[in-house]
Amino acid sequence: MRKTIVAGNWKMNFVPSRAKAFAVEMKDKLDSNKVEVILCVPYVDLRSVKDALEGTNIKVGAQNMHYMDEGAYTGEISGAMLRDMGVPYVIIGHSERRERFGDTDTTVNLKSLKAIEHGLVPIICVGESQKQRKQNRTQGVLRKQLAFALDELTADDMSRIIIAYEPIWAIGTGETATDQQAEEACALIRQQVEQRFGKAAADKVHILYGGSVTPDNAKSLFSMPNIDGGLVGGASVVPSFEKVVHFE
Ligand code: 13P
Repeated sequence: MRKTIVAGNWKMNFVPSRAKAFAVEMKDKLDSNKVEVILCVPYVDLRSVKDALEGTNIKVGAQNMHYMDEGAYTGEISGAMLRDMGVPYVIIGHSERRERFGDTDTTVNLKSLKAIEHGLVPIICVGESQKQRKQNRTQGVLRKQLAFALDELTADDMSRIIIAYEPIWAIGTGETATDQQAEEACALIRQQVEQRFGKAAADKVHILYGGSVTPDNAKSLFSMPNIDGGLVGGASVVPSFEKVVHFE
């Protein structure tokens, strides 16, 4: 049995003082023994949010990291830095970073390997565009993104990573994938993990759906057999995120 995971991706929202106030206000409402709750917050909010959540089961995550440990990389943050801060999770290869900030299949792989090396759990994002879906290329796109992302990872690593299926056309649009579309994609991802690493590894790996998840659609999406929870954007920076976390 895989534990359900609900991860909020705050994106570039909440200045540190507001982030802290939101975490303090929400922590008891979001705390859960049943669901693993993760808040992926801007770097500058990590400290205040982490401190605010102390004593709860809620974890923090970053939204990106560099694949080198240190050096002349102005403006970047390394996995070593996140580990030293006690940050357990990091989103890797979000489509917004792939589209606008130069993340590629290759850097997604390098970042994922480095995250694992530091004991961080990478939340590796894959997903097709509207155009690719219309051209019936969804399966091919997912296969390619995943093949790159998982290069040089091992079967054991499948319990140390999270994969998030985020169709780009569903992100921030209010147009959620149907339960069937999301399930089909997540099943394909699990099948690919199985082909590569075996059934035991595929049974362990967590696969999340992301893209316009709301309190209204969380339950039916998260109840699909191959969907182990969600990566939630807009609905994670409002008080009703509580209803996504306690979706049942
Ligand atoms: P929305 O939930 O706002 O569609 O964003 C999804 C997302 O990008 C999470 O990473």
